[in-house]
Amino acid sequence: MGYCKSSLLVWILPTMCLICVSLGVDNYRIDCGSPTNTPVGDRVFVADDFDSNILSTPQDVSVQTRKESISSAIDLALYQTARVLNGTSSYTFSIKEHGYYWIRLYFCPFVDGNYNLSIAKFSVSAQSFTLLSDFQPQDGSVVKEYCLNINSDNLVLTFTPSANSFAFLNALEIVSLPNDLIPDGARTVDPPIKYQTFTRRALETVARVNMGNQTVSPQNDTLWRLWVSDEPFLNHVNLVNFVSNFKAVNYSTKWHNIAPSSVYGTATRLNSQPDPNTAVNMTWFFPVDPGFEYLVRFHFCDIVSTSPAQLFFNVYINTWLVALNLDLSNLTSNVLGTPYFMDVVAKSSNSRNLGVSVGPSTLGIGYPDGILNGLEIMKLSNSRGSLAASDFEVSSTNKVWVILGVTIGGSFIAVLLSLFLFVFCKRRRRRSSLVAHSTEDHFVVDEDQISRTVENKYDSGTAIISSSKIGYRVPFVAIQEATANFSESLVVGVGGFGKVYKGVLRDGTKVAVKRGVSQQGLAEFRTEIEMLSQFRHRHLVSLIGYCHEKNEMIIIYEYMENGTLKNHLYGSDLPGLSWRQRLEICIGSARGLHYLHTGYAKPIIHRDVKSANILLDENLMAKVADFGISKTGPEIDETHVSTAVKGSFGYLDPEYLTRQHLTEKSDIYSFGVVMFEVLCGRPVIDPSLPREMVNLIEWVIEWEKRGELEKIIDPRLEGETKPDSLRKFGETAVKCLAECGIDRPTMGDVLWNLECALQLQGTDKRITLNGELAPQVNAIGNFEMSVCSTQFSMGSAGDLAGISMSGVFSQMVKAENR
Ligand SMILES: *[C@@H]1O[C@H](CO)[C@@H](O)[C@H](O)[C@H]1NC(C)=O
Ligand SMILES: *[C@@H]1O[C@H](CO)[C@@H](O)[C@H](O)[C@H]1NC(C)=O
Ligand SMILES: *[C@@H]1O[C@H](CO)[C@@H](O)[C@H](O)[C@H]1NC(C)=O
Ligand SMILES: *[C@@H]1O[C@H](CO)[C@@H](O)[C@H](O)[C@H]1NC(C)=O
Ligand SMILES: *[C@@H]1O[C@H](CO)[C@@H](O)[C@H](O)[C@H]1NC(C)=O
Ligand SMILES: *[C@@H]1O[C@H](CO)[C@@H](O)[C@H](O)[C@H]1NC(C)=O
Ligand SMILES: *[C@@H]1O[C@H](CO)[C@@H](O)[C@H](O)[C@H]1NC(C)=O
Repeated sequence: MGYCKSSLLVWILPTMCLICVSLGVDNYRIDCGSPTNTPVGDRVFVADDFDSNILSTPQDVSVQTRKESISSAIDLALYQTARVLNGTSSYTFSIKEHGYYWIRLYFCPFVDGNYNLSIAKFSVSAQSFTLLSDFQPQDGSVVKEYCLNINSDNLVLTFTPSANSFAFLNALEIVSLPNDLIPDGARTVDPPIKYQTFTRRALETVARVNMGNQTVSPQNDTLWRLWVSDEPFLNHVNLVNFVSNFKAVNYSTKWHNIAPSSVYGTATRLNSQPDPNTAVNMTWFFPVDPGFEYLVRFHFCDIVSTSPAQLFFNVYINTWLVALNLDLSNLTSNVLGTPYFMDVVAKSSNSRNLGVSVGPSTLGIGYPDGILNGLEIMKLSNSRGSLAASDFEVSSTNKVWVILGVTIGGSFIAVLLSLFLFVFCKRRRRRSSLVAHSTEDHFVVDEDQISRTVENKYDSGTAIISSSKIGYRVPFVAIQEATANFSESLVVGVGGFGKVYKGVLRDGTKVAVKRGVSQQGLAEFRTEIEMLSQFRHRHLVSLIGYCHEKNEMIIIYEYMENGTLKNHLYGSDLPGLSWRQRLEICIGSARGLHYLHTGYAKPIIHRDVKSANILLDENLMAKVADFGISKTGPEIDETHVSTAVKGSFGYLDPEYLTRQHLTEKSDIYSFGVVMFEVLCGRPVIDPSLPREMVNLIEWVIEWEKRGELEKIIDPRLEGETKPDSLRKFGETAVKCLAECGIDRPTMGDVLWNLECALQLQGTDKRITLNGELAPQVNAIGNFEMSVCSTQFSMGSAGDLAGISMSGVFSQMVKAENR
């Protein structure tokens, strides 16, 4: 049944170059199972007579249907044929230009003589992401669209049939995306939960809707997106009007890619005309999978007003306020008809529906009014790198809504933004490619960093890991010079590993130099360099270089002016930290750990979270340090039995001790211990104290249960902590200490609760945005508060019954003491 094979590339390149010149070279379109090329509008899907370089599959099977059996879709032609993939099969596409790509998979289960495609069941993955798991295409055609940031030279799509089944595919499309399409909002605001970036997430389009009851076909979109009509999603059709005014759309910028004018030119508008007193919301409901985060993009364009400042409205997701008194004219420099979009990340609740509402504001003239022009909802892959519904993650804080980024198509602002994006995109691209290398080679070369720290003429030393990380190597002589030949007067820390010296590089950079004493620590030395060179984050201490010469094992870090958190809590004569400073330090370190746990496809477990491994810079900003025994998360670890229990006495997860089962939740436990150290300002184990007080955790849990935590806090904090803030903090720390890992919150939850605790302390911290976006700022403030208070009323003390801390303590004593 196979067709004669010839090189696919030979076909693709000439065809694609004609069509996609403006979008980059790495676009691929394949009409699977088809012996001929298939034009669809201005796109051409090429015949899939494969070169085995593209598709590797155990069996070569193409199937064809009779035309009548499929409904009349525009892309009908694509569904006439399919390729059956019996056994694990993968497509490998060469990607010359790294960046964001759409992957569109076309499925239509038809029946041909030998195959009934309706019984196919399979999983699909792309790079390390799971796109579909045990998927069974049902009734009619479906297009699945994913967005991935590709930083390697190949895109590998793997189809894995479920047991006793097979996979199939009707067509496949890989399209390079313009850079401005995917936001990285963490730059524009400092949200309550810092949403890292989208670069390490896969996105799946779950809804792309054009308001105004008009479908926009892929042919009418520069990026071949399908925008379906909003009417089927509307809760009450009689509460709205569908309006259209294509002429009013005024891009003033080249941002046509965000959405076409056929989207911005139509809208669904509140219909309150008959009775101004019936001010109601218009609401759309969209099916979603619980346990995932969603990126919701609102598209607005004022095509209804006749002059600026007429239209004000509120925007909600479920019951949460996203924007209060939104005034589009203000956001778009008073140019009516300027497209405007707004991105919000929503962590889904347990509901299978996500509701989006636009409602009347108390401002505005005339009847209550409000519009929405378009909406996109994209599911974000979870910490396990999966988008499959079956891989949902249970979370104790269900309703977390974060304004992420706001971007405007307005003329003046757009110019500023474009400049900003230009600079930023360049940076981001560099950063993303660094990340990619790190996942493949375990090492990254950051040229800037190196040229700043070492002169190129020094090049000696032995590579211990792989030649690709050569850039971090610093010659021994340069280190001797920086530390005045390891002068005792520059020693800032001593530990089992050796000494830490303060040093100054030739260019004036202050560094901390950790000099190992024995070859025993080689594995840790290596792990630490590998980990640090992969991760760059504000709240993780940065690697500057290392040296492995003449039996020396030296790691050079950024210098942290204020030393360890531990030193500021007890055992020194440093001034005490305020409650707010302590909260901020906890938040910072929680961010660092959250990044380790979720920033990569595989979670990284730090394994040695303790106050001595949290460092403070000159502004008391916290950074997590010491990655010597870190590991990638549970998936890998399960394959080999973990030999020795590692970690620090007093901070060790009891579950890990007893079952040797290592997960991120072990870090959560240790972090809970740190939180109580921070609260009480004393060591975890202090044998000099009365017996019942020796173990801080045992002691503190007793008091937390009684609700009298305030009686045992660090005396230096007395009168300073607000009761609500303290309670939130205590509750959170106690949850971290739950006996079973699954009962402990995730680092993201801890972070959120700490932010709440900070707010409850009565913060004046405000999310900083440019002045234009003031309404949202207020909105965020408000709904953060409402999230906090909701959590309070739900209450969470008392889930701790039954923990035997003395049992835990005796296990800890048995543990290896590092
Ligand atoms: C898949 O391959 C196996 C082994 O070659 C064969 O027994 C089975 O019938 C095939 N299934 C389909 C659906 O072609
Ligand atoms: C194909 O499989 C589906 C699902 O099992 C079944 O409902 C349908 O009747 C089958 N069609 C044919 C023609 O066998
Ligand atoms: C929405 O559009 C469809 C198709 O054009 C039409 O049948 C339907 O009546 C419209 N709905 C409303 C409420 O106007
Ligand atoms: C594309 O949009 C234009 C109006 O903007 C309309 O006239 C045309 O019919 C549309 N074409 C398709 C294929 O939807
Ligand atoms: C679009 O907006 C610009 C900037 O204010 C204005 O100069 C131009 O006339 C507008 N174009 C249309 C077609 O309204
Ligand atoms: C609109 O919905 C929000 C969220 O559910 C609610 O708080 C608000 O009161 C509603 N507005 C009106 C006018 O019903
Ligand atoms: C937007 O509103 C702010 C605050 O109300 C005001 O200072 C600013 O001038 C307005 N911008 C425009 C373009 O109207």
